[in-house]
Amino acid sequence: MPRLNPVFANLSAYPIAALEAKKRRVAESGVRIFDFGTGDPREPTPEFIRQALLDAVAPRCGYPSVRGRPPVREAIAGYMQRRFGVGVDPSTQVLPTAGSKEAVFHTPLLVIDKDADDDLVIFPDPGYPAYQRGALFAGGTPYAVPLTEDHIFRPWLLPSDVLSRARLMWSNSPHNPSGAVTPLADLQRTVDLCRKYDILLVSDETYTDVYQGDDVPHSMLECGVEGVLALHSLSKRSGMTGYRSGFLCGDPTIIAQLATLRSNPGLVPQDFVNAAAAVAWADDAHVEKRREIFAEKKLLFLDFFDEVGIEALGRSSTIYLWIKTPDGQTDVEWADRLLAAGIVVSPGPMFGVSGAGAGYVRLALVPSMPVCREAIAVWRTLL
Ligand SMILES: Cc1ncc(COP(=O)(O)O)c(C=O)c1O
Repeated sequence: MPRLNPVFANLSAYPIAALEAKKRRVAESGVRIFDFGTGDPREPTPEFIRQALLDAVAPRCGYPSVRGRPPVREAIAGYMQRRFGVGVDPSTQVLPTAGSKEAVFHTPLLVIDKDADDDLVIFPDPGYPAYQRGALFAGGTPYAVPLTEDHIFRPWLLPSDVLSRARLMWSNSPHNPSGAVTPLADLQRTVDLCRKYDILLVSDETYTDVYQGDDVPHSMLECGVEGVLALHSLSKRSGMTGYRSGFLCGDPTIIAQLATLRSNPGLVPQDFVNAAAAVAWADDAHVEKRREIFAEKKLLFLDFFDEVGIEALGRSSTIYLWIKTPDGQTDVEWADRLLAAGIVVSPGPMFGVSGAGAGYVRLALVPSMPVCREAIAVWRTLL
C-alpha cells in the first residue's frame, strides 16, 4: 500500500460525492429521483457554442499555451468591459482556467508558505468546499469565517492578529449556497482591508450573471485591480459545466506569477475549449435566456414555499435556494426524508467547516420546469 499524504488521508469524501452515493442507493430501490443536489443544470449548451468547439478541433491539436490564444482573452476583456465597465488588458491581465474549481484549489499554491506563521486562507463559512481543501493541500491553515443570518461576508470584523497572519482571502458574491449578494460598498471595504494587510484577494464571481430581479451583482474589480483577482466561469452562465472553462483576471503582476506557476502542472484549457469560450463570453443573449429560465424555476418554488410556510434565502441570485429546516427536524433528517420520497437536496453542513450551514438545506434548481412541478407535487404529499 502506498503511504498517503496525510491531508488526503484525513479528509472525508468531497461532499457532493457522498450525496451521490446516498442518492444511488435510493434510486436502486426503485424510487423515482428528482435531483436538486449537484449544481449541474440540465439545459443544453447553446448550439453556436457547441459548433465553435467542433469547428476548432483541427486535424492536429498541439499543446495549448498556459495563457491561451488571443481570441479567448480578447473576448473575456470585452465581457469585463461590457458587464462591469472594467478595462483589462487581454495580453497581461487575463488567464483562462479549466473551470473555476481547479483555480480555487490551485491558487493557494502561489502564496502559501507552509513553514511561515502567516499561512491563513480566509473564506466564508458556509461556502464552496474547495476553498478549505485548496488551503489544506497547499499546506496552509484554513480560516473559516462564520456568516450571520444575512450571509454577507464582512472580513473587516476579523481581529487584526488573524488578518496579519493571512495570505489569501476568498470572497464569493453571489454566494453559494445562500445566494447572498454583497453590496459594492462592502466589496470596496474588503479590497481596502486586503491591501492594508497585504492579502491576495480573490473574488469568486462564478454566479455573477445568474441573478433574478434588479439587484445586479458587481465585480470586485470595480473597486480596483491592485492585489485583486476575479474568478469567473462558463459553467452556470452558459451551461458549460462539462467544458471546464473559466478565467482569472485582474492584477497583471499576480496573473504573470500564476501563469508561471500553472505551467508546472500544465493547467491549461484546450484550444478548442477556448474557442467555444471565446464565442460564449462574446454573447449576452443566451445568458439572458438562461436567466429567465432560472427566474421561472425560482418563482415556482418560492410560490410553493411561501404558501406552505417554508423560509427560503437566495431569492434574487444563483441557481440555488437555501431553505430553513422546519422546526423539530435536523437538516440531515429533513434531507433524508425528502430523499426517501426521491427529492435530492444537499444538507447545509455539506457547505460548512465549523458547524456552519446547520439548519438549512440547499436546493439546486437544475431539473427542467416540468420535473420541478412534479417534484413539488411529491413534496406536498410529505407536508
Ligand atoms: C462558488 C463556486 N465557485 C466555483 C465553482 C466551480 O465551478 P466550475 O469549476 O464549474 O467553474 C462552483 C461550482 O459549483 C461554485 O459554487
